[in-house]
Amino acid sequence: MSTDVPPRIRLGAPADPATLDPAERLSVTELRAHQLRLLQATLRRAYDHVPHYRAAFDAAGVSPQDCQTLDDLRKFPFTTKDDLRENYPFGLFAVPDSQVSRIHASSGTTGTPTVVGYTEGDIDTWATLMARSIRAAGGRPGHKVHVAYGYGLFTGGLGAHYGAERLGCTVVPASGGMTPRQVQLINDFRPEIIMVTPSYMLTILDEFERQGIDPASSSLRVGIFGAEPWTQGMRTEIESRTNLHAVDIYGLSEVMGPGVSQECVESKDGLHIWEDHFLPEVIDPVDGTVLEEGERGELVFTSLTKQAMPIIRYRTRDLTRLLPGTARPAFRRMEKVTGRSDDMVILRGVNVFPTQIEELVLRTDALSPHFQLVLRKRERLDHMIVRVEARADADPGQRLQAGADLERQIKDRVGVQVAVDVVDQDAIERSVGKMRRVVDER
Ligand code: DLL
Repeated sequence: MSTDVPPRIRLGAPADPATLDPAERLSVTELRAHQLRLLQATLRRAYDHVPHYRAAFDAAGVSPQDCQTLDDLRKFPFTTKDDLRENYPFGLFAVPDSQVSRIHASSGTTGTPTVVGYTEGDIDTWATLMARSIRAAGGRPGHKVHVAYGYGLFTGGLGAHYGAERLGCTVVPASGGMTPRQVQLINDFRPEIIMVTPSYMLTILDEFERQGIDPASSSLRVGIFGAEPWTQGMRTEIESRTNLHAVDIYGLSEVMGPGVSQECVESKDGLHIWEDHFLPEVIDPVDGTVLEEGERGELVFTSLTKQAMPIIRYRTRDLTRLLPGTARPAFRRMEKVTGRSDDMVILRGVNVFPTQIEELVLRTDALSPHFQLVLRKRERLDHMIVRVEARADADPGQRLQAGADLERQIKDRVGVQVAVDVVDQDAIERSVGKMRRVVDER
């Protein structure tokens, strides 16, 4: 096996068609026909095998044969996280237990976890789509892939692992945590690719620097970052400290796990949805109407090939918009997710997303990208404190100035008055997985 590190991947070079899956080369017309066939079969399967869907379709007065075009999907009811909780643990499975070969779950913020199941065929599809995602990100057979997403019930670690193996890569299943060891493994094994949450990537970069190693000198050429919202500013921050391309990967357990959509390294212009397996819609989160391409709203997915747990019109709560395909022309893109509707803070009537604050923090010179939003109640009014670490080399004067600048920027651009608390390096708890951005002390 070669230990040579490939040169920095050239941007703008289109993917070699010979390396693409046949589905990635479909025309839009072919793709739509394929989707309709799969959608009809999925609706039928859900109705016949899952009592919840039968009851929900009956209550809405629709049956699988009412789906004659892709637009007919609008007649069918949405599925929500509450539906998964009410059918805990296995009530939404469409196959007998004996055919379920894997269970994953996500804990979420409330008590009951969300449970999902996979047949052997589902695991195979997932591995194929993750392999496709890693390839779109610039990965090639023979690359070493350092997986620092957590292994376990969370879908990140195992999803990445199976996909990288399927592509023909060498996998280092590091999982999350033990940060000094992550740096040692990267230095010793010389992987080209790292798969990790963007917030944990920052922790790893800080550890490189603490050990006196310049992360730009590492072997890493591609970072496949997801599982939480991150901004263009964060991409610039990570790329400027390293010699890698930072690309976005999206997914959720209910729909499969990572690999529902992936940003292509040659265009870095949003995430291509693997539409041969998932049908996206964007809806108005308030009244549920389907929005036009280009309009921002809540992302909704219907699975087209899942066997163990088909999912119909699942409301992700993730906010984005659909855009036409580019690097993979038939597959629509989703814009980088701005945030989840449940992460949105409503502060005196103004909607605030952590990503809006992230963009502004990253534009302020003396501030590091480590920040948290603390919510408190004072005299019955909600207050937000932006706790943000100063960069190591910032002097007291620069820190003071940076805090005042950030407060003003947030007032001007987001439209809310917040207090900025500039704290020392390492004062904010580091993430080893998904970062908790909002601390609600109300
Ligand atoms: O986070 C799956 C995943 C693992 C995706 C590794 C990418 C990489 P869950 O734990 O079920 O699954 O959480 C899903 O995470 O609804 C989004 O709110 C958020 N999310 C995932 N990817 C992104 C992303 C995994 N690229 C929830 N940008 C989703 C923004 C993301 N948010």
